[in-house]
Amino acid sequence: MSEDDLATVQAEFPGYRIWREIFPGRDRYVVRSLVPGLSPHTLITSDLTEVREALKPVSPPGPEAFTTGRTNVARMYAHWLGGKDSFEADRMAADSVLVRFPEVAEIAHANRAFLARAVRHVAQQGVRQFVDFGVGLPASPNLHDIARERVPDARVVYLDRDPVVLSHARALLATDENIGVVAGDLRNPAAAMTVPALAELISAPEPVCVILGCVLHFLPSTEADAAAAWFRWWMAPGSYLVISAGTSTGTDPELLQQLQAAFGDAAPVTGRTAAEIAAWFDGLAVARPGVVDVWAWRPDSVRRPAQSRARILAGVGRKPVAGTGCSLERDDWDVLAAGGTSQAVRARPCTST
Ligand SMILES: C[S@@+](CC[C@H](N)C(=O)[O-])C[C@H]1O[C@@H](n2cnc3c(N)ncnc32)[C@H](O)[C@@H]1O
Repeated sequence: MSEDDLATVQAEFPGYRIWREIFPGRDRYVVRSLVPGLSPHTLITSDLTEVREALKPVSPPGPEAFTTGRTNVARMYAHWLGGKDSFEADRMAADSVLVRFPEVAEIAHANRAFLARAVRHVAQQGVRQFVDFGVGLPASPNLHDIARERVPDARVVYLDRDPVVLSHARALLATDENIGVVAGDLRNPAAAMTVPALAELISAPEPVCVILGCVLHFLPSTEADAAAAWFRWWMAPGSYLVISAGTSTGTDPELLQQLQAAFGDAAPVTGRTAAEIAAWFDGLAVARPGVVDVWAWRPDSVRRPAQSRARILAGVGRKPVAGTGCSLERDDWDVLAAGGTSQAVRARPCTST
C-alpha cells in the first residue's frame, strides 16, 4: 500500500485519525476514533485493507416491513395524538396503555408542543436548514411551517425508517422543492446523511438544526449514544441539536414494561436515565432552562401536568463557534454547568474552541 492509498482511506473516514508507524521491524497503521461513541475506538493493523473493512459502516437491517397485524411505534403515537392513521392492533395497544396511564396522551401532545417551540426558537436565531430524524406520521403543526414563520425559504429534510411514515410524509409534507423526505435509519446516521437527496438540500458546512424528537429511546443504548455523538461531531459550528426522549428517571417502571411489551423488538424501548439523556448534549451550549421535562421547556403558558408517571425530557444545544465561546447570546443561552435551573439535568460543559 502506498502513501496515496493511506491518504484515500484517511479522506474516506473523516471521523478517524489514521496514521502509519514505521519502526525497525515494525510497520503498522494506527486508527483512533475522533468522535465519542464512534466504534471502533482504536485499531492497529499492518494491513490497510483491514482498516477499510473495519471502519466501513455496518448496514443496519433494512426498512421496517409494512404490517397491520403488529403494533407500530409511529401509528400508536399518532393515535395518542388523536390522529386517524392507525390500525386495530395499534389502537388496542395504545388504548391499553391509556387505561393504566392516561397522562401518556397529554405528554405526547406536550412533546409536539415542545418541538414547535424549539424549532421556532432556532429559526429565530437565523438557522435556515432543518433535519428531522424520526419524523413520525404527519402531525400538526408541521415543523417546516413553524420554521418558515421566521425563515420563509427554510430547507427541511424529514427522515424515518418506517415505509408508511415515509409515504405519508411524501404525500403531505413534501409540498415544495425545499422539503425532502428520505429513508434513513438512525442506527447508521452516516449512511442516511450522505444520500444525494439529502445532500442536495442540506449543506454540511452551514449551521443546521437537527431534531431527534422521541426517537432515541427506541435505539439500544450504545447506538443511541453513538447517534447523538455522531450528530454533535457532524454538525457545523453554530448548529443546534433538539432532542426529546422518554426517561426512566421518574417514570413508572410499569409503564416502561408496558411500552416494551407493546413495541417488542421492532423498537426496543430503552429507559435512559436523566443523566444519560443530558450526556447527549455534552460539549454543547445548552439553552435555558436546560434539559427538563418537555412541558417545562420555555412553556407558552405553564401547564404542568397535575400528576404524571410518564416523563419525556427535552433540551436544545448549540455547537460552539470557534473563538466565540459557548454562550454567544448571553440572555438566551447558557452552559448548564455555569447555571441552569434547579430541575435541569446537567450536561458536561461546553468548552470553547
Ligand atoms: C414516537 S414517533 C416520534 C415522531 C416525532 N419525531 C415527534 O417527536 O413527534 C418515533 C418515530 O421514530 C421512528 N423511528 C424509530 N426508530 C427509528 C430508527 N432507528 N431510525 C429512524 N426512525 C426511527 C419511528 O418510525 C417513528 O416514526
